[in-house]
Formats: sequence, C-alpha cells, structure tokens
Amino acid sequence: MLTLPSRRSVLTGLTLAPALAVTPHGAWAVPEGEGAPLPDARNTAPSLSRAARKGGRYYGAAARADHLRQDRALRAAVLRDCDVLTPEIHLKWNSLEWRKGQFNFAPVDDLLAFSDDNGLRVRGHTLLWEQSTPDWAKRELLEQRDWRLMAEHFSRVLGRYGARINEWDVINEPIDTEAGAGSLRRNTFFRAFGPTYIERAMEEARAHAPRAHLVINDYGFEYGNPVDKARRQAFVALLRRLRAADVPLDGAGVQAHLDLSKGPIDKVGLQDMTKALIDLGLDITVTELDVKEAGGSHSTTARDQKVADETRRYLDIMLAFPEVRGVVTWGLTDKFSWLTEQVDARVRATEGVNRGLPYDESYSPKPMYWALSDTLGVSS
Ligand code: XIL
Repeated sequence: MLTLPSRRSVLTGLTLAPALAVTPHGAWAVPEGEGAPLPDARNTAPSLSRAARKGGRYYGAAARADHLRQDRALRAAVLRDCDVLTPEIHLKWNSLEWRKGQFNFAPVDDLLAFSDDNGLRVRGHTLLWEQSTPDWAKRELLEQRDWRLMAEHFSRVLGRYGARINEWDVINEPIDTEAGAGSLRRNTFFRAFGPTYIERAMEEARAHAPRAHLVINDYGFEYGNPVDKARRQAFVALLRRLRAADVPLDGAGVQAHLDLSKGPIDKVGLQDMTKALIDLGLDITVTELDVKEAGGSHSTTARDQKVADETRRYLDIMLAFPEVRGVVTWGLTDKFSWLTEQVDARVRATEGVNRGLPYDESYSPKPMYWALSDTLGVSS
C-alpha cells in the first residue's frame, strides 16, 4: 500500500480508483496505480494556486475530510488548485465537542494528514462562532459566566493544533449592526462576559499560539444597502479600537459571500473599508468567497456568466490592494456547497444546485474559475 505523498500521484490516478483506505497509523493511502508518473500535461494544466502565486498571493478552498475521502475528483481538484485548505466544519466547537468532554478530533487530524502529505497550509476556522457553539457550552457560559470555560476550549484546540495551524479566525461574525449592542452581536460570549470578550479571546489565543496569525472574520461588507454600509463601519471601528488598545490582532478576514440579489457591489464603500483596515496595519484575507444566485429561469450559461462577472467585479476591487494576501473560496465544486444546503427543495427541483463555486457538479471549470484565475494572476 502506498501513502498519498504528493500532488503528482493523485493527479495521475483520476480515472483509476476505489475509495481511499486508512492505514493503521492514520495516513492517507491510495491503491496501487495512483503513483504512476504524471503526463506532461500537468505542467500546462490550469491551477488557481499557480495563478495566485504569480500575483504574489495564495488561493485555497474550504473542504470537509469526509468529502475528500469519498470523492477522488475533489482530491484531484484540491491538489491541482489549492495551496491552502480551510476545514469547513471540523474545527468548530460543536464539531469538536458536541457533548461536553467527548472530543471528536479525528476529522481535523484526517484533514491535517492529507494537508501534510501534500504540502497544503491550513486556516484555523474558527475558535468562536455563535452558530457553532454547542448548546451545553452556551448554557454553561450563560449560567456560570466563568472565563475558564473559554480558556479550556482555547487551550484544548490551540494546544493540539496551534503549532501546526498558524492562522486562526479567532472570532467569527462578531458584528451585528441591527440587533447588536454598539454594533456587537449579542452572542453567548457577549452576554456572558460583556463586549470585552473580544479582547480577552484575542489575548487567550495569543497566549496559547504565540506565533500564529490571529484574525477576526466577518461578512456583509460588499453591497450598497444601509446594513452593509453600517457593517463596514462597525468592522473598521471594532478593529481600530482593538489595535489602539494593543490587543493581539494580525489580520482581517472578509468572508465575501456574494449575493446576486443584493444589487451592485459598492466599489467605493469596499475600497474605503479595505484602505481603513490596511491603515491599521492589518493584512486582509478573503476567507469564504462564493456567489449566491438570484434564482430565476435563466439558462445555465447565463447563470454561470453572472456568477463569474460578480466574482470578477469583487476581486478586481479587492486584489488591487497588495495587502489582500489570499483568496479562499467556500468550497470548490457546486457538488458540495453550503449555499445548496440552504436552497428550498422546490427551488432546487427546478433550478438545481446553486452554481456559485469555480467547478460545476462534475468538476468542469465554469466561467467563475477563469474569473478567479485571471484576477489572481495579476500582481497589484
Ligand atoms: C457553514 C458550513 O459551510 C456548513 O456546512 C455548516 O453547516 C454551517 O457553517 N460563514 C462561516 C462559515 O463563517 O463557517 C459557514 O460555514 C458559512 C457562513
């Protein structure tokens, strides 16, 4: 049995393939035949990472370990296109510890083994997110208001992965300009510890991962509506306050879940926010790019073109800033898109899956792929 050592072996074996097996020591193993020499075509095959490197950046995607194991074409696409992987769910608190004290590290370890075997970097997503906090933790945090519960979580996750994963979305989605208090989301952490949970969480992360790149990640910055405008201002204000107080913070994560129903991207608004974040000395990562379609009865070709145009419009603005150092899409293929998870069954029956990622369901690159490749390939 061979371990899965390189991009080369996976790329060559595209048509061979039974599912991967796990060796006793947990490494990724592939059947005989996958290690055959790669045809020369590899050198001319497109690769979003290669384009991004040319532009002085990186490209990556979110993925799940179970999908990688079950889907050979997904592995091939990841290895062809990505320098970076974000675990889509496995590092979230409710995945790691759905029941108090019962830990589920296996999917993270699995994804890390795959990444190690293939030279991929991993983004740590995410230590604190209201939506992925298990109910027991919410309850205990609100009842006890004891920071040790937070400290234990940080220590457990960063103690295990803090040296291997050197970039973390420490806090995910702290902004809420509509129902928030002072634009901060009234999440469990806010309710238990007040607004300074943010400072304390960043300090806690720094204490457990002294060399890691620490990021605050949020969404809803792209469009011209009043909510997005307020969110841009609130995000800058929060990060400015943290920098002024010397709170550990290295980068800003902008999710970039684009949405065709939200009207044109607010170019000036987005530029102003990005400049303001850069002026704070932060670098910027596009952490979760995808495009939600407006729906309707358009042809697939027309839908794909709209998605690509939106991607290009967005990246043309963002990638004009050299401080935007990487782009991660929230998946690679429409086969596995969280946007489809949210699509109503009736809509899905008529319109199919959401087509907001670079590859379609059968791994043909769509116009969005080329929009990414073109824009990433230009250095700013
Ligand atoms: C999503 C995953 O894609 C889903 O599979 C999961 O059920 C819920 O979380 N913003 C984020 C991501 O920061 O963590 C979310 O990921 C998508 C929205």
